[in-house]
Amino acid sequence: MPAAFSTEIRPLTEVPEWDEFAKQVPLADRRASSLRVIKAASLSVDLSGQVQSPELEVAAEALLKARHFEQARKTLFEGGIANPTEHRAAWHTALRSGEPPAEVARERQRVIEFARKVQSEGRFTSVVHIGIGGSDWGPRLCVRAFGNTGTRIRIRFASNIDGHAVQGAVAGLDPHKTLIIVSSKTFTTTETLRNAERAFDWLRKGGVENPKDHLVAVTASPKAAAAYGAKPEHTFQFWDYVGGRYSLWAAIGLPVALAIGVDAYEGLLFGAEAMDKHFATAPLADNAPVQLALAGVANRSVLNYGSLNIAAYDARLVFLSSYLQQLDMESLGKSVDLAGNPSTVPTGAVVWGMAGTDAQHTFFQWLHQGTDGAPVDFIVCREADHPHPEHHRLLLANCLAQREALLQGKDFDAALAETKRMTKDPEEAEWLARHRVHPGGRPSTLIVLPRLTPYTLGALLAMYEHKVFTQGVLWGINPFDQWGVEYGKVLAAGIGRELDGEAPGTTHDVSTAHWINVLRT
Ligand code: F6P
Repeated sequence: MPAAFSTEIRPLTEVPEWDEFAKQVPLADRRASSLRVIKAASLSVDLSGQVQSPELEVAAEALLKARHFEQARKTLFEGGIANPTEHRAAWHTALRSGEPPAEVARERQRVIEFARKVQSEGRFTSVVHIGIGGSDWGPRLCVRAFGNTGTRIRIRFASNIDGHAVQGAVAGLDPHKTLIIVSSKTFTTTETLRNAERAFDWLRKGGVENPKDHLVAVTASPKAAAAYGAKPEHTFQFWDYVGGRYSLWAAIGLPVALAIGVDAYEGLLFGAEAMDKHFATAPLADNAPVQLALAGVANRSVLNYGSLNIAAYDARLVFLSSYLQQLDMESLGKSVDLAGNPSTVPTGAVVWGMAGTDAQHTFFQWLHQGTDGAPVDFIVCREADHPHPEHHRLLLANCLAQREALLQGKDFDAALAETKRMTKDPEEAEWLARHRVHPGGRPSTLIVLPRLTPYTLGALLAMYEHKVFTQGVLWGINPFDQWGVEYGKVLAAGIGRELDGEAPGTTHDVSTAHWINVLRT
């Protein structure tokens, strides 16, 4: 096993290269005094607003070496055991490779042919997609980004166990013309299976004689799907080596091919593959995911920022922050390193966000003047796809202005010069000025896409995947398992049975026991 995934990994704070990195971060520039833009798979990634100095660059490369980053990256791309706690590969790069393994090529082709067939036959005009987490966010993000207009097939999504979700998803559709896609890596997820039952009830009530003829299954467990009634020709497979949050590139992308078009599905894969090539080959100093990860570690573990804000200045990317939230937080929300020891530095940050400019009128005040602040990833397209250039100029202006305010801030003297023009009372002017000070020096990255296409979105998502991976390597944690989620799933199953009438367990805390009793039917 390469050292990067070895249980012999040293606690980060015992690595001398970490000490040097941590020493250099606070000394580095934080106000974009020199331009640092990396080109990666058609994206421009401006890291000028992150900590930078020649000394930090040297320390960062030494740290990457000390954490065996290059070996780890090789393991990832070769499909080695990058996920040691589940003894699995994390081979999502194979899914978008131009030279994929035979099974990947086969399923990719099946997805494409199936999408084309459904589109050309015209028997189904709507799709209800049922899945959750990694089996939902990717298609949902893409369909929202590119509109559901590329084909004649309309798609709705149901993920939440809340009955309103599935009820809303089927409302107004014609059951005879609706396909039900059940996407689940395990084909055991309660929300998904229960929502699927409701969808099939709806088909039955709507007069569909054989509801399972309308079922399409996407899963890493074709046996479970077959037991559920999915036909082999309507079952699309992926594999254990594809993590849920990395599965958009596999058959989980089927709704994209169906509802936006096969070109969109392939475009995503091409963009992601281009980013893979960049990540695999660009020198470390010019490697966008690597540099984003170093900034992420500096911000989280040295400068102590507890969160990362995603500000996509693009109304089409409303689900981007949720997608990245799952990718980052499910991957890096760990406090034990690969050796099984508590991490000696803070790891995974909270990821949150909202599309700009809505975000400006919601929480940017906190980013500018709150006591904590957060690094911000600004994401914007150079060109818009609407016929209102003046709107796009304003969008760009807002994006740049917010970033500049975070970077430069406003010092007391500048604030006082303003307030002196507002009042003749010097005491009042000083008092007012104190409220108008902006600390500045708050880190940010600006990511510019030429325009929003499946290719650029694919590249963007893959860039974040590799950033998250690199942060995992630097912190010495496994970004590919999710034991916390699994634990919650197990407890929910037990409590669900108890609410259904099974005798309550004896291990509950008093509050949980109380509410189980109150809520039992
Ligand atoms: O959130 C945890 C998780 O296991 C994700 O990785 C996955 O995408 C999601 O649950 C849904 O699981 P499944 O695809 O097996 O239904």
